[in-house]
Amino acid sequence: MQHVAVKWITHFHICPGWRGFRPRSDWPTTGESRVTDLSFARTPFLDGKTRGRRGSLRRVSLTISVIGTGYLGIVHAACMADLGHTVIAVDTNVAKVESLCRGVAPLFEPGLDELLARVLATGRLHFTTDYAQVAGAEVHFICVGTPQRKGQNAADTSYVFAAAQSLAPHLTSKVLVVGKSTVPVGTAAKLRERLQQSVPTGVQVRLAWNPEFLREGFAIQDTVSPNRFVYGVDGPSADADVALLDEVYSGPLALGTPRLVCDYPTAELVKVAANAFLATKISFINAMADVCEVAGADVVKLADALGHDDRIGRKFLNAGVGFGGGCLPKDIRAFMARASELGADAALEFLREIDAINVRRRSRVVDLAREECGGTLVGRRVAVLGAAFKPDSDDIRDSPALDIAQAARDEGALVSVHDPKAMEAARAVHPDLEYADSVEEACLGADVVLHLTEWKQFRDIDPAKLAVVVAKLSIIDGRNTLDPDLWRSAGWAYRALGRPTI
Ligand code: UDX
Repeated sequence: MQHVAVKWITHFHICPGWRGFRPRSDWPTTGESRVTDLSFARTPFLDGKTRGRRGSLRRVSLTISVIGTGYLGIVHAACMADLGHTVIAVDTNVAKVESLCRGVAPLFEPGLDELLARVLATGRLHFTTDYAQVAGAEVHFICVGTPQRKGQNAADTSYVFAAAQSLAPHLTSKVLVVGKSTVPVGTAAKLRERLQQSVPTGVQVRLAWNPEFLREGFAIQDTVSPNRFVYGVDGPSADADVALLDEVYSGPLALGTPRLVCDYPTAELVKVAANAFLATKISFINAMADVCEVAGADVVKLADALGHDDRIGRKFLNAGVGFGGGCLPKDIRAFMARASELGADAALEFLREIDAINVRRRSRVVDLAREECGGTLVGRRVAVLGAAFKPDSDDIRDSPALDIAQAARDEGALVSVHDPKAMEAARAVHPDLEYADSVEEACLGADVVLHLTEWKQFRDIDPAKLAVVVAKLSIIDGRNTLDPDLWRSAGWAYRALGRPTI
């Protein structure tokens, strides 16, 4: 990983105006903590409302670095600056950093452009490719990715270790490193050990694990107003580490966000266990969808009825093409791989089936599309509505929509895809698919329309108007969010996963 650090130093880029962190003594203080205004009590949420107990709140300003500017890092950096901290975010990608310095996010997340504009104007947020600029930060957040290793189930944690290695020369015994990346259990302890070997003599490494739980599409809300904070701490500095993290999150904590303190392995496990549970819930309802189909039942009504039991709950019981994205699929696989390394394979054997159920959803849609096209997809026109793995995102990582589109294309179909935000990303990864600028263009002459990402725009389609452009009135609703009666009354053959075919 040495070459990474060298590249950063020789090609660094930094936002104009950044003069480095001011020394701690320059910060306004009240007693032990540095206190600024209380405007965070008016932090706007995505629903436009404000929450908080104004008057009883104290806002603490710290100097923070954020390593990695993916979905997690950009949002975390911008939100921390919005909470009043001074933040520098580091990434190796020069184009990305230049774009962020101009206030242009390299990804789509609702509210992010506005948030970036707001915090960049305060002068509290900066981006750089130069690692040396993080010197002076009191807290360093590691927000780099841990993708699935090629050809394996395990997660690739090399970016986490590389980031920590580059931080090492800048650490003192007062500085806290905070891991936010999703990692296999045991990584934090190993990382602290490695860091301890690399820091200047006499420095005692302080490391906490503070997993993120943000959902794309709600990332800002989930960062400033999460449903809980989890701090994994260990060693002689544990109490001080908790206190420092409390300062970082003083705004959300004052608003009543619960905070749990535990050891490293528990904190690491909370994240993967949560994602395993969510994946299990989705695959459970999708398995029920298969049973509904053969029994002539309706999985949407089944989920509604199950959801009224508050021990079960209605959330994450939406049957359809299943889960995708950069987290759920790879996290359950990495969890299985790690459990196996620890000799606990049997405990997570069920996740193999959760994964298999999920993967089968995709081939099931291709089977239905083939059926609708008279037994073959060769030369048939297939319209695909959706490319992102979920709505309100341009993220196409492990997207069920694109997987299905590609599978239909591989069987000889002419596939035209439309997505409100993810076209550019999709085109880069799946160049042999056709891309259309509108729903109508994608559906022109289509033998079957596949609804695969539940964007609001698609729910608002008028089936009567769309009927005039297609070759055949056939739609497969892979997300169970269209209104079957509306489509059928406009003359369409409407099919969905887990619902009766009329
Ligand atoms: C997930 C976790 O929710 C979040 O806490 C974690 O930090 C990161 O991983 P995200 O990947 O943004 O967040 O998406 P999420 O909303 O969880 O959806 C994951 C996938 O499941 C999507 O493809 C979505 O379409 C699918 N899904 C979700 C269903 O198929 N059915 C449902 O009922 C819910």
